[in-house]
Amino acid sequence: MKKLFSTSLFPVIVFFFTFSSNSTIVAGDAPKLVGVKTCGMCHKKDAEGNQLKVWQDSKHANAYKTLQSEEADKIAKDKGIDGKAAEAKECLVCHASGYDVDASLLAKNFKVEEGVQCETCHGAGGKFKKKSTMKDHAKAVAAGLVEYKDEAAIKTQCVTCHNEESPTFKDFDFDKRWAEIAHDIPKK
Ligand code: HEC
Ligand code: HEC
Ligand code: HEC
Ligand code: HEC
Repeated sequence: MKKLFSTSLFPVIVFFFTFSSNSTIVAGDAPKLVGVKTCGMCHKKDAEGNQLKVWQDSKHANAYKTLQSEEADKIAKDKGIDGKAAEAKECLVCHASGYDVDASLLAKNFKVEEGVQCETCHGAGGKFKKKSTMKDHAKAVAAGLVEYKDEAAIKTQCVTCHNEESPTFKDFDFDKRWAEIAHDIPKK
């Protein structure tokens, strides 16, 4: 009985050690948020869809600045929030990327003031931003690029913010709103 016990526990112990040491490595090795300036360096050619410009022209680029308005402070006050909207977690959660991320995971170029940035939807780019990785879809996904398998998956991402928790929410017409900010690479 004693023997049976120890041999059957052995794989469990091995598994535990493998698993726990792996997860430590992963935690200390998480990709950094690089910020829209870095993504934009390679995504601003008109012939390739100029994703940077589509984003700059969208309200996502302005989402943090919106919180610095008097209107925003008033909305925050009405919600019982003490202090500035631009400093309130309750507002930043949908109006900015990376506001709650440890400084060690923010690249120098990253600025919370840039609002809802590329990496909120595409994943932290610290490990997939290299050109050779970006060109290889499987590699990029393995390095943290978020993959959307269909429009329903895209919509699921949108409604994490476009929902009734937003103090100014009216409705969210996905087809219409996605058409406003879609930023494909044109097919060759
Ligand atoms: C060094 C240049 C470079 C940087 C920096 C860069 N990209 Fe890319 N990206 C590319 C290239 C090249 C492609 C492939 C384009 C193609 O297939 O025509 C690509 C493709 C993509 C794709 C489509 C990938 C796929 O497989 O579906 C997404 C999404 C993307 N980039 C987002 C980002 C984001 C977000 C950032 C910042 C975190 C970023 N990129 C930074 C060069 C770059
Ligand atoms: C659940 C996500 C979410 C939260 C939380 C949130 N917002 Fe927003 N906010 C949005 C979205 C999405 C919009 C775009 C318009 C809409 O659908 O409401 C928006 C728009 C705004 C606007 C522009 C209003 C307009 O009509 O264009 C202001 C101002 C604003 N929010 C302030 C705040 C303040 C202040 C807080 C914190 C008390 C806050 N938001 C919390 C998601 C959110
Ligand atoms: C609100 C969410 C959101 C933001 C912000 C956003 N994207 Fe996207 N992006 C998407 C979705 C969803 C797709 C379509 C699914 C996919 O290809 O991953 C997409 C597609 C892309 C593609 C690939 C298009 C194709 O035809 O294969 C590139 C490149 C890209 N985004 C780059 C960027 C860059 C660079 C930024 C910032 C300047 C950015 N995105 C900001 C959600 C977003
Ligand atoms: C991290 C939260 C977040 C996510 C995810 C997000 N949005 Fe937004 N979106 C906002 C906020 C906040 C605003 C309002 C910004 C402002 O007015 O300053 C906004 C504004 C917009 C606007 C302008 C709306 C208007 O009334 O003019 C469009 C269009 C939009 N988002 C489309 C989308 C789509 C499509 C997706 C999914 C692909 C998406 N958003 C995902 C937070 C988000």
